[in-house]
Amino acid sequence: MEIINGIFVCEDYGEMSRRAADVFADFIRCEPTGVLGLATGSSPMGLYRCLVKDYEEGKLDFSKIVSYNLDEYYPISPDHSQSYRRFMDENLFDHINIDKKNTHVPDGTCSDPTAFCADYDKRIKAAGGIGIQLLGVGRNGHIGFNEPDGVLQGATHLADLTDSTVDANSRFFKCREDVPKQAITMGIDAIMGAGTVVLVISGEEKHEALTYLLDGFYDTHRPVTLLRGHRDLRVFCDKAAYYGK
Ligand code: GLP
Repeated sequence: MEIINGIFVCEDYGEMSRRAADVFADFIRCEPTGVLGLATGSSPMGLYRCLVKDYEEGKLDFSKIVSYNLDEYYPISPDHSQSYRRFMDENLFDHINIDKKNTHVPDGTCSDPTAFCADYDKRIKAAGGIGIQLLGVGRNGHIGFNEPDGVLQGATHLADLTDSTVDANSRFFKCREDVPKQAITMGIDAIMGAGTVVLVISGEEKHEALTYLLDGFYDTHRPVTLLRGHRDLRVFCDKAAYYGK
């Protein structure tokens, strides 16, 4: 691994995942009752595998850990194969000793998303905010489902997905029509309020999104650039994402 301009540039996806997982593992050891902000997508899967391995080796205890996920499609049922609740259960929660009651993923079946979102923010605040937030980035620079826009919302909200995100995510569904066109997502406030933000970026197709963060000014049309203002941002990428080849 090399540190270039404060970015941890790792050899490959495996090293990126392990190094970023170590930041989470340290946090969990220091704050066994801490609040994790978790993300879905292919980027964090390797990191989750590392945390499961650490747990199996007796190095981590999740019994008092609390988690809040960034986002969930809307509408979607929790047992849908592509729901983020299912992703979290299958990739992490079912393999560690976290109490499922302490895991929170936005409810893709709620009948009143506005009320749900307000309550989600209240619960995060009441839990003391997010201690450490994991993030991936969309090809268009979105974080969570905070899509490029003239104004980014601070609070958890129901977001319309852009065509490019629907296209990118349609690889997980039978066809494009099956991709939900909306999602409930944490807003910028909860993300920026996290004690630490760990951003994982892998693959050539994310090179452009990484350059937004590295070269750009704050730009709501490239939501990832807002992270430049975070007091403790750790960026882990692989060479493919950094060099774009
Ligand atoms: C989705 C999620 C984001 C994620 C992004 C990138 O749209 N809402 O949280 O960062 O996809 O996903 P991937 O890591 O699979 O490229």
